[in-house]
Amino acid sequence: MIVRFSEILTERRRRGTAAGAFTCYNLATAAGVVRAATARGAGVILLVGERSFRAEGGDFLVAALRAIAVRAPVPTAVQLDHVADLELIEAAFELGVGAVMADGSRLPLDENAAFVRRAVEIARRHGGEVEAELGHVAGDEDVAQLAAVGALTDPAEAAAFVERTGAACLAVSIGNVHGVYRRSPALDWARLEAIRERVGVPLSLHGASGLPGEDLRRAIERGIAKVNVNTELRERYLEVLADRLQWARDGARVLELELVLADAIAAAAGAKLDALAG
Ligand code: 13P
Repeated sequence: MIVRFSEILTERRRRGTAAGAFTCYNLATAAGVVRAATARGAGVILLVGERSFRAEGGDFLVAALRAIAVRAPVPTAVQLDHVADLELIEAAFELGVGAVMADGSRLPLDENAAFVRRAVEIARRHGGEVEAELGHVAGDEDVAQLAAVGALTDPAEAAAFVERTGAACLAVSIGNVHGVYRRSPALDWARLEAIRERVGVPLSLHGASGLPGEDLRRAIERGIAKVNVNTELRERYLEVLADRLQWARDGARVLELELVLADAIAAAAGAKLDALAG
């Protein structure tokens, strides 16, 4: 069933865990993610990356994910991830996403706030919601590269930022990166606690690939309500694809290959959901 984005965050938090948000590139990834969430009775968020949305067929992908969310047995939301363009935000809400991640994190504070505020105005017209980012979570969202930590979220700025913008969720930069951690991850727990003390809306942790389960649990204990995962799923998808490609070619087995890939994603997403649950 398709539900409001913030409803999933609140419900997962009430159960002492966080919502898993997984980037979906095609039907096999989305089907695998929903299967993993369904097996655990967990509400889940299907993410569409900005490049996927801009690419040919991006509107079809959103329509497909929306249809999957409607039919999913567990509460499900579709979110456009990391978008810095208001026209794209409007287009995504018109296609029926429940939320966007309005990423103004490369802008100076006031410009970031003004951008998110405008995204929230668009969202409200469509009954949708906005996640914002303060500080900057470095790294590429679709290509796995070594990433060094970006600007950290300033707890003193966070409360006023959320108040000014009307964001429903705030992504924090506390030592997390997208892609591959250049050094072993060292999350700034005191900073997360300080942000949590000041900010009333749910917090999200991007770049969960490569973070040990223990860090995910500590983050949830300190207020993280949403955890974004992509690289680990892509890696698993491609490993299984490489492993099964000759077998698939031998019989021109496209359907069977798709099903095997969905199985691989279900296992990888399931492992991450188990790590969130502790
Ligand atoms: P990873 O690719 O590092 O898991 O990050 C995903 C993410 O944060 C998507 O917004």
